[in-house]
Amino acid sequence: MSALDDLFAAAEAARRRAYAPYSRFQVGAAIRDPDGRIHAGCNVENAAYPIGTCAEAGALAAMVLAGADQIAEIAVVGGPEHGAEILCPPCGGCRQRIREFGGLTARVHLREPDGTVRTLTLDDLLPVSFGPEHL
Ligand code: THU
Repeated sequence: MSALDDLFAAAEAARRRAYAPYSRFQVGAAIRDPDGRIHAGCNVENAAYPIGTCAEAGALAAMVLAGADQIAEIAVVGGPEHGAEILCPPCGGCRQRIREFGGLTARVHLREPDGTVRTLTLDDLLPVSFGPEHL
């Protein structure tokens, strides 16, 4: 039992809802806001490939809809449709999305296939980044 079990469980449940008929790569993400609430999302692809959305974007939309504006931590899980989970680091665009609401200190939790959790900060993943305070 770890303090992250609930967050990873929410990300796993979201991943099961992924709509990924083109890549067949299913991703789930779950955000914990500073009040402890969890907001989850999955990737949603589209026949017009570039407009598909990432799991992190879905989780962020759910967070904003719920009235929160800060990410304390986020867990991301992913893997091929009929395969085992693999380490699934956020894409570059999603790193920037997390930056918008998580600042430099947001914790990003990833999971190795053997279950080992790797925790990085947003600053680890997107160093020397541009953010809201620049505008
Ligand atoms: N994907 C995510 O949902 N999050 C990421 O950070 C990496 C990629 C999705 C997008 C696409 O539906 C599939 O994974 C394959 O790229």
